[in-house]
Amino acid sequence: MSGPVLVTGAAGLIGTWLRGSLPERGWAVRSLDVAPIADVRPGEEQLVADVTDLAAMVDACTGATAVVHLAGIATESTWPAISHSNIEGTYATLEAARRAGVQRVVLASSNHATGYTPRPEQGLLTEAEAPHRPDTYYGVSKATMEALGSLYADRYGLDVVCLRIGSAFPEPTTVRQLATWLSPTDTVGLVDAALRAPSPGFAVVWGVSDNTRRWWDLTAARALGYESVDDAEVYAAELLEVHGEPDPTDPVHARVGGEYATAAFDADVIEARQAAPEEP
Ligand SMILES: NC(=O)c1ccc[n+]([C@@H]2O[C@H](COP(=O)([O-])OP(=O)(O)OC[C@H]3O[C@@H](n4cnc5c(N)ncnc54)[C@H](O)[C@@H]3O)[C@@H](O)[C@H]2O)c1
Repeated sequence: MSGPVLVTGAAGLIGTWLRGSLPERGWAVRSLDVAPIADVRPGEEQLVADVTDLAAMVDACTGATAVVHLAGIATESTWPAISHSNIEGTYATLEAARRAGVQRVVLASSNHATGYTPRPEQGLLTEAEAPHRPDTYYGVSKATMEALGSLYADRYGLDVVCLRIGSAFPEPTTVRQLATWLSPTDTVGLVDAALRAPSPGFAVVWGVSDNTRRWWDLTAARALGYESVDDAEVYAAELLEVHGEPDPTDPVHARVGGEYATAAFDADVIEARQAAPEEP
């Protein structure tokens, strides 16, 4: 490895974990976000830029070893907002990497690219068993992210690793997340594996910890070198005491996308909620 890893969306939740931990794993970090980063680490380069600005992204990619693309809207929103930040942003990232000669791009995809997939009653879903079935415009942007990654791998020979992340949070806070949680340590381990795997070509892997209740298969992620060290089950007793065992007739538990696959996540509903005055 020569140049730094460019991390887009570096000021966000996952970006902050990566900025803290990738250097310990031998990666220099060049951070990029529209929001300035308050606590820039020694040795970290910082760029304040919009990921949809192709010229700025070519400059940001120049001299980088790889790109980890996190920037964008991380939940459901309106179509204009999602298509601009997430789809234009992913295009600009891949195109800038190509123009700057960066060989590898790691893309933060999401389980919501496949969110209408019925949750398996038993057994584990491989990535191939969960083709695109987005549950939201956000999910469409992640399915498009994977499609753009596939194009840039096939047409231009880039190595593109898409991480279909479950729920990357400090700890699980819902019963669903007992299955879908990706711990902070495992998030860093998965990105590190995606950066290190020798010539992965185009790959799509689930991003989930080795949770007792998970329904996603980890064979493909392990083939990259990922070894999960966490299991959400340590939080099960306290979450089940509050929420009870999941009700299989509850629509939230019928589909892998959970709440995103319900009417509450219709973009019109989200827009109305955003426009509504604050509850007193
Ligand atoms: N956290 C999760 O559970 C989860 C699950 C699945 C996928 N993901 C994906 O991982 C990525 C990071 O998620 P997160 O939880 O850290 O989100 P986050 O909202 O905390 O961080 C996103 C960052 O992107 C930046 N950003 C947004 N638009 C930008 C633009 N146009 N140009 C430059 N920067 C921009 C924001 O300022 C923010 O710092 C997202 O792409 C998200 O969709 C996250």
